[in-house]
Amino acid sequence: MNERQKTPPSPPGQAPAVAARPPGYPAELEQTSTLRDGRAVFVRPVIPADALALEREWRDADAETLYQRFFTPRPRLDARRLHAFVHVDYQWRLALVAFAADTRAVGIVRYEGAPGQEHAEIAIVINPAWRRVGLASTLLRLLAEAARARGLRRLTALYLQDNQAMAALLAKAGFIPPRVSAGVAATEKAV
Ligand SMILES: CC(C)(COP(=O)(O)OP(=O)(O)OC[C@H]1O[C@@H](n2cnc3c(N)ncnc32)[C@H](O)[C@@H]1OP(=O)(O)O)[C@@H](O)C(=O)NCCC(=O)NCCS
Repeated sequence: MNERQKTPPSPPGQAPAVAARPPGYPAELEQTSTLRDGRAVFVRPVIPADALALEREWRDADAETLYQRFFTPRPRLDARRLHAFVHVDYQWRLALVAFAADTRAVGIVRYEGAPGQEHAEIAIVINPAWRRVGLASTLLRLLAEAARARGLRRLTALYLQDNQAMAALLAKAGFIPPRVSAGVAATEKAV
């Protein structure tokens, strides 16, 4: 067997061995999930080496998706924001990324909290080609389990009032009926 044969191909989103896992990386959150249409994704906590993949998804994202996620037309992905996306402490700030077999990052969910705080705010984006097959629900469930395991008590969410997909997703996931103010809906769920 030659060297090349000895090294198995990396599963999507996995190694290459050179892609360092930061201290505190919770490998136990890695898993493969099969979606309702039979496609599989590999889900794992975000790492700094994901910057390129997330930048690419941002570049390819449609304006409506970015607007629904950031509440502003044409949000910018500057270096500071990208750095914050991929550097988390895995305790008060956590993001889970779903990778397709072709290694594209097709979904990401995160919570943003602060040290000592029992609640954190979630955000989620799913690639349009991967919607309505349960990916957001799966990521949200995994995120809630991870939050609970880290001592958080509540997840909160903000979304634009007319974002029916998000409203339905959160209602189905057990978030309480939202309060709406200035076009933004706010809801939460105990974890
Ligand atoms: C909202 C969003 C995350 C949903 O992702 P998804 O993977 O399609 O969601 P799921 O497949 O897990 O759907 C779960 C439930 O939500 C509801 N839902 C999802 N999309 C919906 C839509 N377009 N219209 C109505 N209900 C919808 C359904 O009840 C669905 O269950 P069902 O498919 O069994 O009927 C996705 O549309 C998205 O990325 N939107 C842009 C970003 C965004 O709006 N983020 C929110 C602010 S952070």
